[in-house]
Amino acid sequence: MTSALGFFVTIEGIEGSGKSALANALQHRLTSSCSRVLVTREPGGTAIGDVVRRILLDCKEVSDRAELLLFEAARAQHIEEIIKPALGRGDLVICDRYIDSTIAYQGYGRGIDFAIIERVNNFATKCMMPNLTILLDLPVQVGLARQTKVDRISAQGLEFHESVRRGYLDLAEADPERFVIINAARSFEEVLDEAAEIIATKAKVKL
Ligand code: TYD
Repeated sequence: MTSALGFFVTIEGIEGSGKSALANALQHRLTSSCSRVLVTREPGGTAIGDVVRRILLDCKEVSDRAELLLFEAARAQHIEEIIKPALGRGDLVICDRYIDSTIAYQGYGRGIDFAIIERVNNFATKCMMPNLTILLDLPVQVGLARQTKVDRISAQGLEFHESVRRGYLDLAEADPERFVIINAARSFEEVLDEAAEIIATKAKVKL
């Protein structure tokens, strides 16, 4: 199931790929063309999500299963409180991370069974799929070097982040209808121009 009225875009990528900066810049770039552009992010975006985010990123001891379920709890609230109502109003929703983050980080990174992740992703989102997913791809070393702050998850070793990147590329290859890969090793302006163009084309809005 994809959004009934609005247009739902997710932005995905490894640490330092520039998702958050891109999401904010897209809001400015697209606001004149769309009636309303909502930018939101996971985990976060709601009061519950912000608390869960702090637990997830700051607590030293979090088991892999607890980590998965905390991300999904934040997501369930986010879908209910923010994303579904916005799509119902006809907004263009741009979400920084969504279900593919969980497959890439908890599946490819932590090694949790993909069938379990699929079930909890579907349960948390009521099967609400993005219309478009932009994957910002770049070499892990380049992304990690760009990072300004480090938390429990981003502090994982190189091998973990390489698995996450591989996971994202596998997902994009398996679903070329939904995914577009953007080379994020280029300048921010180039990435922004390409992303804005892709969203405008897919969402059928004029830039
Ligand atoms: P955040 O500070 O928002 O990082 P970023 O700017 O890279 O998005 O923290 C989110 C972290 O949580 C990031 O390391 C990716 C991780 N994450 C998962 O492991 N699984 C998930 O399902 C989500 C949404 C995020």
